[in-house]
Amino acid sequence: MNPDFYAVVGNPIAQSKSPLIHAAFANALGHAIVYDRIEAPLGAFAATVDAIRKRGARGINVTAPFKVDAFVYATQASEAAKTAGAANALKFDGEKIYAENFDGVGLLRDIEVNLGVSLKEKRILLLGAGGATRGALTPLLSARPKALVVANRDIEKAQTLVTEVAASSVARALGYDALNAEVFDVVLNATSSSLTQALPPISAALFGDCELAYDLTYGKGLTPFLKLASENKHTQIADGVGMLVEQAAEAFAWWRGDRPDTKSVIKAMTVALV
Ligand code: ATR
Repeated sequence: MNPDFYAVVGNPIAQSKSPLIHAAFANALGHAIVYDRIEAPLGAFAATVDAIRKRGARGINVTAPFKVDAFVYATQASEAAKTAGAANALKFDGEKIYAENFDGVGLLRDIEVNLGVSLKEKRILLLGAGGATRGALTPLLSARPKALVVANRDIEKAQTLVTEVAASSVARALGYDALNAEVFDVVLNATSSSLTQALPPISAALFGDCELAYDLTYGKGLTPFLKLASENKHTQIADGVGMLVEQAAEAFAWWRGDRPDTKSVIKAMTVALV
């Protein structure tokens, strides 16, 4: 029997760690799978996935810039995918195409289980109001924080997200200049700033009472955000490698009914924060 076929689809795709992660999971659990990297031309996500399905694929992971296209392509979507308006995993069953979004749950699991930081009753600051923030809001609220503030340069985008996704008495939108008057236990960088080694407009004082500073970007070492946070010796710093591996484990379990252990894979994928 041929091994089950999966792939990660994005553009560009050469940088994707998903094939390595899924190969490690399959190896550890004794599953025979083939998992490829496939670059879809811009504007041709649906045609590319049609062809992948014709090859008999059981599911795909989806990365930038196609997460919204993947959601639109699906015939049914989970609550997490609907809330995010985006999918990072699809499962194929005949004509049915199921959409999921495991980014938010992967983030939550990494923070609470792997890093051991409970978010219950904590004051959380989420920087950025793009797709990463949209996917993270509902899982973060499910952890029952005391406050959840979304800060963005374009404050209207933050306000829209809070109204649409996080309508809750604990969630608020703020501009960066209002952050000086606030105190946070956990600060999450969900902007794309670290991809270009840029720093959001924050100061070291923001981390005065901060227990955990978390950059959702991974594999970039000590980003300007994490470097600033590390000036406070009591602030634990982490990048998004654990989130990446946890969302992959959720997808693997969804596709194959078996949840892999993530610890050794996170360790193998970790780039030192220096
Ligand atoms: P993603 O899907 O990765 O979240 P996105 O939807 O393009 O990407 O959103 C990028 C986010 O990072 C935006 O919130 C953007 O802020 P603006 O909406 O104000 O443009 C934010 N961002 C990018 N570079 C930033 C920087 N140097 N400082 C602060 N915010 C930044």
